[in-house]
Amino acid sequence: MTQLKLKLDLIAGARPNFMKIGPIIKAIDQHNESNGVPKIEYRLIHTGQHYDQNMSQSFFEQLNIPHPHINLGAGSGTQAVQTAHIMTGYEKALGEWMPDICIVVGDVTSTMACSIVARKAGIKVAHVEGGIRSGDWSMPEEINRMVTDSITNYFFTTSEEANKNLVKEGHDDKQIFYVGNTMIDSLLGNLNRLQKPGFYDEKLHGDNYLVLTLHRPSNVDDHEKLSQILNLIADAAKDIQVLFPVHPRTRKMMEALPGQYKNMILVEPLPYLEFIYVVSNSIGVITDSGGITEETSVMNIPCITLRTTTERPETIRLGTNELVPDINNAPPLIQQMISGQWKQAQLIPFWEGKAAERIVQTLSQLSIDSDRK
Ligand code: UD1
Repeated sequence: MTQLKLKLDLIAGARPNFMKIGPIIKAIDQHNESNGVPKIEYRLIHTGQHYDQNMSQSFFEQLNIPHPHINLGAGSGTQAVQTAHIMTGYEKALGEWMPDICIVVGDVTSTMACSIVARKAGIKVAHVEGGIRSGDWSMPEEINRMVTDSITNYFFTTSEEANKNLVKEGHDDKQIFYVGNTMIDSLLGNLNRLQKPGFYDEKLHGDNYLVLTLHRPSNVDDHEKLSQILNLIADAAKDIQVLFPVHPRTRKMMEALPGQYKNMILVEPLPYLEFIYVVSNSIGVITDSGGITEETSVMNIPCITLRTTTERPETIRLGTNELVPDINNAPPLIQQMISGQWKQAQLIPFWEGKAAERIVQTLSQLSIDSDRK
């Protein structure tokens, strides 16, 4: 029998979650407006893992994401402190409401923390972007992915590789729904409303620049490593400007560095529409983010990833991404990027802007047997 009402908790905590959850909310609203059955009720829960204007609020404003129903106010801290704050906060927030499904996205601390709380309370867990694996256990995100997926009931996946990983780990095919990429839904839905940042004409000499982002602990938490990366990139780029929106984690470390990088333009983390604007007009991107490799692949912008592994191999196989495990090997690739010799992106299956619609359609067809005793 079809349920008449479906209750969801939607969890968002850190910057890369917001553009993944936004399209799901839109698709739920459309489903309800078209009198879809079951009617879907939801609460948007912001864990507060990221909390300031640049890392959180600007994304809500620019992507028209409704004000969260609840903010757990977790704030900064060590991995354990942050996890504990989110878990105790979410457990309290469950209260009387008790959703049928808790939807978590991505691989941040909030994803793992809320999935544990939900599953222990007998609530089904759906993981959007489930199944991706870097195999690198030194990344907190890999631990978050493994823990979350080990207790997930419904996997909404972005790639063939993710499907294979889940099957290999013993998950049932029937739990896995290959829907595409909600981050790409956001990208494609906003390409016609990008915003040029205020500093653009003043600080950049035309469109001949690279974009750099760095925030992975493995690249930024060690002064020497961070300094080596910045020096190599600044030297390799020569007279090409490098626009560097600096993540707060990285900024703290850079304050202690002596270096002056003449061709680097340091700015605060950019709001979504401005960040995509600068990337889409750049020669190429150097990054250690996973999400950015997806966005550059879809926009056919060359991308170098400064990491030893990626959980998104499709961005190398079909997209514009090249992995550089050793920073010493980056300069010739940066030169190649600047000279315009780069592979062309191919279409990645289902990355066409309809992932969130597929997720909501699938959710509305599930028959949910509660684990609650
Ligand atoms: C987190 C995610 C990472 C994601 C990244 C995007 C985990 C384990 N990591 O890493 O997967 O790619 O977000 O940004 O969940 N800070 C601020 N303002 C904020 C938020 C944080 O200044 O709004 C500062 C904190 O005080 C902290 C630092 O930034 O010192 C790092 O924040 P944290 O949430 O611990 O992890 P990220 O490195 O951002």
